[in-house]
Amino acid sequence: MTETITLSTGQKMPLVGLGTWKSAPGQVKQAVLAALDCGYRHIDCAAAYGNEREVGEALTEQLGPGKSLRREDIFVTSKLWNTKHHPDDVEEACKRSLSDLRLCYLDLYLMHWPMAFERGDELMPRHPDGTIRYDDTHYRDTWAAMEKLVDQGLVKAIGLSNFNARQTDDILSVAKHKPVVNQMECHPYLVQSKLVSHCWSRGLTVTAYSPLGSPDRPWVTPGQARLLDDPRVVGMAKHYNKSPAQVINRWHIQRGVICIPKSVTPSRIKQNIEVFDFKLSDEDMRLIESFNRNERLIVPTIMKDGQKVWRDAGHPHFPFS
Ligand code: A2P
Repeated sequence: MTETITLSTGQKMPLVGLGTWKSAPGQVKQAVLAALDCGYRHIDCAAAYGNEREVGEALTEQLGPGKSLRREDIFVTSKLWNTKHHPDDVEEACKRSLSDLRLCYLDLYLMHWPMAFERGDELMPRHPDGTIRYDDTHYRDTWAAMEKLVDQGLVKAIGLSNFNARQTDDILSVAKHKPVVNQMECHPYLVQSKLVSHCWSRGLTVTAYSPLGSPDRPWVTPGQARLLDDPRVVGMAKHYNKSPAQVINRWHIQRGVICIPKSVTPSRIKQNIEVFDFKLSDEDMRLIESFNRNERLIVPTIMKDGQKVWRDAGHPHFPFS
């Protein structure tokens, strides 16, 4: 059984969850079933992943009267996509995720990114030059609309994703319902020490996405070093008689960060949660932290005038400098 962390609301959130970003329809149902079968009680979802309906098929097979699990046994997170930030769109977007997931409530609903995209059903509305068509809805207004979801009982808690320290404080300064989590890219090549400490000091729990370095990210460049193949991680895995992924997952949870490794492979799904029967030494914890190279893998970049620039940096709420 997986260990939990207590959120500022008192809810218990399992330290390891199943990630579903990049899990294709056709694969994700089996992945969720395999995960529930081997003890996962936390599934991380998002409308933008395009697979919540299939996640819902798996949940409905396992949850409910006469089935193996009760709703309250599992922790389900979903995320409000950037095209749904306008306060008039928030409730409908949440209800859509609930209906796709076939749930009456979410345990946690995150604002996926601080930037708002043009309203509508196009996931990534773009100008012909590839840049995003933004909307000027402020994330503070989106937050106020998300707070109403808590009041209505549609979600137990709300939180942030991809927010920097300043933006997190900005939300805290206006929040009636405080954000309980900030979900951020985090792995040994991007350890995020400052932002993690900042969130903790404000009572937020941190969830690491791409905890294994997302080797299946769509824009991976051939030959780019893979965290899971890093000889230092591989060496440590041999020492502990565990896999490289288990060492990394263990590092996250041992530092108090929730991790949501994605896999559609049953043996890996099982392996990724088998991290509660060993402990990394303090020295190895520090050693892994020293692998940091502030390498952000998730936001794609483009070259402009010979410089690497963030593809989405044209928005005042873009979180990364
Ligand atoms: P797959 O889904 O084909 O099993 P992240 O969670 O950082 O985004 O990483 C997800 C990627 O890591 C996927 O390509 C997934 O492959 C792979 N992966 C997940 N768990 C393991 C594991 N225990 N060992 C090796 N690769 C893994």
